[in-house]
Amino acid sequence: MYSIIRDSVPMEYDNDENTWRRHSTPKVERSTCHQIPKRSTTVAVVVLGLAVLSCLLGYCVLSETLPYESKTLRLVIILFRHGARTPVESYNSDPYKNYQWPDGLGGLTNAGKLQLYELGKKYRSYYANFIPEEYCDKDVFIRSSDKSRCLMSAYTFLAGLYPPTERQLWHPELPWQPVPVHSLPRELDNIVAATKPCKVWKAMYQEQLAEKNADPKFTELFDYLSKHTNQSMRSILPVDFLYSTLLSEQEAGLKLPEWTRTVFPSKMKTPFMLSLALLSYNESLQRLQIGPLLKEMKLYLDEAVRHENVDRTLYVYSGHDVTVVSLWRALGFDDLLAPDYGASIVLELHEDIEQESFFVKTFYRNNTKVEVPLELKLPFCDDPCTYTQFTEHITKLIPEDWEAECGNTNQ
Ligand SMILES: *[C@@H]1O[C@H](CO)[C@@H](O)[C@H](O)[C@H]1NC(C)=O
Ligand SMILES: *[C@@H]1O[C@H](CO)[C@@H](O)[C@H](O)[C@H]1NC(C)=O
Ligand SMILES: *[C@@H]1O[C@H](CO)[C@@H](O)[C@H](O)[C@H]1NC(C)=O
Repeated sequence: MYSIIRDSVPMEYDNDENTWRRHSTPKVERSTCHQIPKRSTTVAVVVLGLAVLSCLLGYCVLSETLPYESKTLRLVIILFRHGARTPVESYNSDPYKNYQWPDGLGGLTNAGKLQLYELGKKYRSYYANFIPEEYCDKDVFIRSSDKSRCLMSAYTFLAGLYPPTERQLWHPELPWQPVPVHSLPRELDNIVAATKPCKVWKAMYQEQLAEKNADPKFTELFDYLSKHTNQSMRSILPVDFLYSTLLSEQEAGLKLPEWTRTVFPSKMKTPFMLSLALLSYNESLQRLQIGPLLKEMKLYLDEAVRHENVDRTLYVYSGHDVTVVSLWRALGFDDLLAPDYGASIVLELHEDIEQESFFVKTFYRNNTKVEVPLELKLPFCDDPCTYTQFTEHITKLIPEDWEAECGNTNQ
């Protein structure tokens, strides 16, 4: 509604400036990323009015999310899982072993691209009164896992979040503008993908894994899966991979083998979710698995509380199912989670000017279709969760020196 993309924009090539311009755009105009004043409630009222009106006219064309009104909001941090993907690997007896996935193994599918684009549009509408309509480098920072599907998800999310304003259109056929996405190489990434090696973490993880694998309640399932896949399935880890593979194949419309009927998704779901949770199963694992990400988030919150870097009001992270689960667990939730494609967790920092205090709100959107995110009640916090209480909790999960705590440094 408030960020309309035109299908075809009359533009002409300007030989003096070597760029495409709209006819109407006066040549001298040099509007830069100016401070966009927080838009007044009148905009929201008009939008709401239009929504109501269109519903009165007989059909609710606007199933679209309505903007969220808040005078106290200061900072938003969004972390999401990438969109729908093809299987990462197959298994020995997989009838689709040689299937030619058009997007390659572990690739983001068109459905996946669309999911994140829609999620971006949802957040654009939801935060219409907070996130400036015009993309500006100083306002936002986006970090992604270096996996192609995460980078691509970040790009389509941003296409939905920041359609070019009229001034920003730079080509008549492309209502899109580049928005940078930062990432660390996998072997250095202890922030989003958590793929940087950490010896102590690995040893603790192996210990937890061995313990869970020995649980007699899984024996029968492990035997059954090993027999039918013709490979060893005596750990929740290969069961996790198998579950993901079957799910992607099913989503691609492939008919799964008969033997999967009795176990997928039903009996396989718990070991699958447990495997995701195990990476950050207890506080010691959380410190090493997600501590560096929490440290970065805390830095941003601290800056906002000190009224520093005030333009930077949005941080976006594009990660994996395990990234969502690790943050979920670090926020004090123990229940097992299977985050859908594009599931997102949001942290909001609010300032209560009268009380001269800050508080944190957290939300979960379990998929990209959810209109209004579910507010989470943090188990370690009062309601509202004060900034002090919040940071006290996450500080416990932030290592002073991650390398040293990982035992990576030689002494
Ligand atoms: C099982 O695996 C073995 C070796 O990996 C192979 O020789 C055999 O043909 C496989 N059986 C089935 C049913 O796929
Ligand atoms: C977490 O699990 C590991 C591995 O079992 C263990 O060594 C560590 O003490 C546990 N930490 C906590 C806080 O329970
Ligand atoms: C997803 O969230 C919505 C609302 O927040 C809820 O109604 C729905 O049951 C949830 N779905 C699942 C599968 O948890």
